[in-house]
Amino acid sequence: MAASFEMRCIECGKAHDMTRPAYACTDCGNLLEIALNRNAALDRLSKVDWKRRPISVWRYKELIPVGGKAELFSLNEGGTPLLECHNLADELGMKSLRVKFDGMNPTGSFKDRGMTVGITKAKELGMKTVACASTGNTSASLAAYAGLAGLKCVVLIPEGKVALGKLAQAMMHGATVVTVKGNFDQALDIVMKASGKLGMYVLNSVNPFRLEGQKTAAFEISDQMNGASPDYLYIPVGNGGNSAAYWKGFAEYESLGLTKGLPIFRGIQAEGSAPIAHMFESNARELSPVQKPETVATAIRIGNPANWKKTVRAVKESGGSVSTVTDGQILEAQKNLAKKEGIFAEPAGAAALAGLIKDIEAGEIDRTSSVVCVSTGHGLKDPDVAISQSAKPRTIEASLDALQKLLGGD
Ligand SMILES: Cc1ncc(COP(=O)(O)O)c(C=O)c1O
Ligand SMILES: [Zn+2]
Repeated sequence: MAASFEMRCIECGKAHDMTRPAYACTDCGNLLEIALNRNAALDRLSKVDWKRRPISVWRYKELIPVGGKAELFSLNEGGTPLLECHNLADELGMKSLRVKFDGMNPTGSFKDRGMTVGITKAKELGMKTVACASTGNTSASLAAYAGLAGLKCVVLIPEGKVALGKLAQAMMHGATVVTVKGNFDQALDIVMKASGKLGMYVLNSVNPFRLEGQKTAAFEISDQMNGASPDYLYIPVGNGGNSAAYWKGFAEYESLGLTKGLPIFRGIQAEGSAPIAHMFESNARELSPVQKPETVATAIRIGNPANWKKTVRAVKESGGSVSTVTDGQILEAQKNLAKKEGIFAEPAGAAALAGLIKDIEAGEIDRTSSVVCVSTGHGLKDPDVAISQSAKPRTIEASLDALQKLLGGD
């Protein structure tokens, strides 16, 4: 029977050896992806009662290209809630608005889906050290899974631009944390150059195995919608790995007959860090990097997205587009999610909702559509931004009188 998976170049299609670390095509330098053999996958699924497994990344083991007989390194990632947002839906006059809250993963972001697969692969390959550049969440997640697997972990982060909670996580999980006097794009450049020389396995989203874990979020959404797909998927875009992974997930699930229909993708970038949105606006064929990306949503403060080709292809195949929101719109959406739905997302994790609100107000999408917004990271990771935009606590003397006075009672 044909192999269940093949690793190949996204541009020239050249097959690459999956038993060695690889991130780019040896012929043309483009990114690699994993292709799923449909018939082999159906055969594997038919031999197990996978639908009885709890909803999680590893429920879909047969569709993930690692861990056949190897030990899995898991913290029970995935299985995150798809929350029906009635209050916001009513306010926006929408029929159905759901949020896939991936901030509920073990380290508080969707990265855990990719890291459980990526670290399992690192062990399969016999690697001793793993590394990444990160705007924060990747380092937090990688550090946790590396600790679990007993691997050394090196993370490079842009100086002064990583949310406090994420930094605390990477440090507590035992990573060697290196601060770079530069931005994320420069840090990634160093990590890629260092990987071969220093023998480190890179677990940024240029690693195709990571995206194989992240695609399970799409499987979960469909399972949580009883085998349907939403009409629209709103998703924040930084490096473009997650959006590409989601599309791969929906497309594979549909090809296997496990979901009906495919969502139109609306990728959302922050206005000051929006090179992919600029491509859609100007119909450009090539990316023009943003030299000095800026946004309050530090997780998506990326000017030269490594996965832009994968994401542009994915979003176009879905019939969608990538557009921008302002930092003000992101913070407003973050507050709305927290106050009206009880969902505390970090700023990047509210960008998708900000994009939806903008589209609804502009009449860009039909209010009767079913919409899922992906909320990618937890608000507890970035207390500074949350506190800076909230009313300060009021201080009173320690008496009931003082409290009554403050609350306006008599
Ligand atoms: C919370 C959060 N949202 C969105 C993204 C963007 O994901 P991607 O870089 O895969 O586009 C990131 C990436 O770091 C993130 O941490
Ligand atoms: Zn190639």
